[in-house]
Amino acid sequence: MTAAQSLWPTPRGAASAWPLPRPPPVPPPTVVVCEAGTDSVGRVRVSPSGPSSIHIEDLVVQQPHRGQGLGARLLAAAFELGRRWGRGRAWLEADDTGSGRLIEWYRRLGFQPAGRGPHGRPLLEARAARALPVIRRELETQAGGRPSYTLRAVPVTPATRTHP
Ligand SMILES: CC(C)(COP(=O)(O)OP(=O)(O)OC[C@H]1O[C@@H](n2cnc3c(N)ncnc32)[C@H](O)[C@@H]1OP(=O)(O)O)[C@@H](O)C(=O)NCCC(=O)NCCS
Repeated sequence: MTAAQSLWPTPRGAASAWPLPRPPPVPPPTVVVCEAGTDSVGRVRVSPSGPSSIHIEDLVVQQPHRGQGLGARLLAAAFELGRRWGRGRAWLEADDTGSGRLIEWYRRLGFQPAGRGPHGRPLLEARAARALPVIRRELETQAGGRPSYTLRAVPVTPATRTHP
């Protein structure tokens, strides 16, 4: 028997001897989709990871739409979503092909190398407070002259999940 139990014995039939705070609900994994009209041209998947972090994965922008800041916008959206969830840190595994270009891009946007991730790929971490201003500055320099894109957050619920 622990000290806490002996001090606060649980009354017969009660779930707990004292009112334990209910843990906050864990937000569902969410896919942020970037659309040009009705076409989906990019996406990123964001999941809560522990109490203070988000996990960013499956970031992709369709080839003809690359190089216009959409990847950076999707990353900014991931950080903003994480903040709404009360999570100010992010991590991802870079799908680096060996050129180092992708990792350099993430570093430019405020990510820092942190060893290897669970799949053996380069692990990168960032704080929203550091990355968001950098990404916004980067996007400002690219503003103007491109088609209008919209972002939409789609929670991955059992109903929207397509794989078993
Ligand atoms: C990485 C990716 C999402 C970037 O999207 P984007 O809309 O082109 O990104 P932005 O316009 O905001 O930024 C462009 C930057 O991305 C980097 N980049 C783009 N394609 C890249 C590639 N295939 N490999 C490495 N870096 C790449 C470049 O550094 C580029 O910076 P530059 O303009 O100074 O050269 C996009 O290239 C992509 O979908 N790649 C394939 C999937 C992938 O690797 N996803 C990342 C998984 S961790």
